[in-house]
Amino acid sequence: MVPRRDWFTMQPPSAIHGLAHSARVMVWTTVLAGDGLLFEPALWAAACHDLCRETDDVDPGHGERAALWVIEELPRRLEETPEELDRIASACRWHAHPDRESGWRDDLLWLLKDADALDRIRLGDFDERFLRSAAARDRVGAARDLIQRTRRMTDPVDVWSEAFRLGLPIDRLLDFDFGLSSEEAPTR
Ligand SMILES: [Fe+2]
Ligand SMILES: [Fe+2]
Repeated sequence: MVPRRDWFTMQPPSAIHGLAHSARVMVWTTVLAGDGLLFEPALWAAACHDLCRETDDVDPGHGERAALWVIEELPRRLEETPEELDRIASACRWHAHPDRESGWRDDLLWLLKDADALDRIRLGDFDERFLRSAAARDRVGAARDLIQRTRRMTDPVDVWSEAFRLGLPIDRLLDFDFGLSSEEAPTR
C-alpha cells in the first residue's frame, strides 16, 4: 500500500527540518524498531517531532509544541487515535532536550533520538559517539547514502523508495496505513 501523502503537507516547508527530514527519520525509526513493538509509536513520533518548528535555527520550544499538537490535534486528523498517544507526545516533547536533562526516560525516546541523529549527518555536526544504540551505529554509512540520494526530494514516497532501493528493511513502513480521516483538510 502506498502511504497517504497528504499527511506530509503538514510538515513545515523547510529544506532542513521539513518533509524529507521527517521521511528519513521515519525510515530510521522503522529500521531501528525492527519487528518490535516500538515501530508504530516511533513512526508517529517521527512524523510529528518537528511539525511545530517555527524556525530552522535553535527552537527550544518546538518539542513542547509538538507534544501539545499530538495530544490535541493528531486524533482529530485520524480515523482512530494511535495507541500510546501520551507516550508519542512525551517522545516529541523530550526529543528537543539533551539526554541528561530529560525529564522522561523511555526506550521510545532513545529510539526517536537515534533516528533523528542519523539524519544529523546532513547538518555537518554529526558525532557517532552520541548515538545510543549499536543498531544505530551500524547504520551510519547507510544514513550518509540516504541523505545524499534524497537531499533534493520533496515527496516522502520518493525518499522511502530510495531507502528501499538501498536495501533498508522498511516493509512495515511501506505497508503502514496512516488512517488519515478523509474529510479533515491536512493543513496546519
Ligand atoms: Fe527537533
Ligand atoms: Fe528532527
